[in-house]
Amino acid sequence: MQPISLAPIPEIIFGNGRLSDVPSHVTRLAGKAQPAMIVADPAMTSLGVTAKLARLLAEAGHEANVYDGFKGEPKSSDVDQASARARDLKAMAVIGLGGGTALDTAKLVAACAVSGKPAVAYQFCETALPVEPLALIAVPTTAGTGAEVTRTCIFTNAAHQKVWAWGDELKPILAVLDPELTTGVPAAVTAATGLDALVHAIEASTNRNRNEANDLYCHRAISLISGALETAVKMPQDLAARGSLLLGSCYAGIGIDNAGTALAHNISHAMAELAPVPHGRATGLAMLATIEWVKDGNPDAFAKVADAMKAARGVVAGYESLVRRSGIKISLSGDGLDLDRPERLAERMASAAHAPMRRNTVRDVSDDDLLRLAERVYALT
Ligand SMILES: [Fe+2]
Repeated sequence: MQPISLAPIPEIIFGNGRLSDVPSHVTRLAGKAQPAMIVADPAMTSLGVTAKLARLLAEAGHEANVYDGFKGEPKSSDVDQASARARDLKAMAVIGLGGGTALDTAKLVAACAVSGKPAVAYQFCETALPVEPLALIAVPTTAGTGAEVTRTCIFTNAAHQKVWAWGDELKPILAVLDPELTTGVPAAVTAATGLDALVHAIEASTNRNRNEANDLYCHRAISLISGALETAVKMPQDLAARGSLLLGSCYAGIGIDNAGTALAHNISHAMAELAPVPHGRATGLAMLATIEWVKDGNPDAFAKVADAMKAARGVVAGYESLVRRSGIKISLSGDGLDLDRPERLAERMASAAHAPMRRNTVRDVSDDDLLRLAERVYALT
């Protein structure tokens, strides 16, 4: 039997209205009456969710402070401001409330508030993370990144470089999944983030690092997401569909935490350096353009993906049908890319920064292949 490795998975709590339980978990994990720092997406503040959480914490005896000063993707300055506030508050818990930006920031705040170091100290693992960060609770409000169960965070440093930090110490201790928090996500974002999560599960269950324990989470994620994506896009208030996407993206997060991604993410990260195509849509389209080519590297693994999707006509047709039904724009014309020059995308795909995803792909990807694959992505209609 092949070797298996499955990293620790945070405690997971799932159900409608579970946001209200967060204060009791803060008491349990950080101690009675200990202060808590909330790192919230500004959209949650506009909707009144941040204030509701702060009120519930206060009622349970936990003083709370809020950082919600994000603009776009997480920056080292966000982490540094929020961790300074957490130190002033003498916080013993950090609650990330939002999408990937809020959760990635909260992960670093839990470390930086303890160490007193700036976020940049932890880029590329340059400094060891504190062994005992603050108790970190992740409350995702979009269904996509799976950041609530992973050890990674990506942020931009003061030199405008996109950098990463990684370590067991960055993994939340508890993920609280409340589908009611996700009903306000617009249709286009629901489609793109849902496809991102689906691709996480497909890549983690088919790439060179896959193993059968991790596949359990990936295949269930594929089943949940493929069964609910179209409904969640078309009927945003459907809590059953929203719940399936939220749980599916969490399981897919477990998948990539253990096995990483592959070619579709190589392409979407490369594309992000050329034009601001949203990550989920870029990844979903990259998979659409390349799944037929990659599947020949491990047809058995892709057959299991097709089974999980209930795709009677096979994985390629099944995946394409899902992407088209999600309603995302398929063609990349008008997205700021020079579609006459796929060689520029191929060049970026070949860069050292994206090499791990290329190597992790189950089929060998030669330099010539890179150009042919980039051409396929740019030719999508
Ligand atoms: Fe992704």
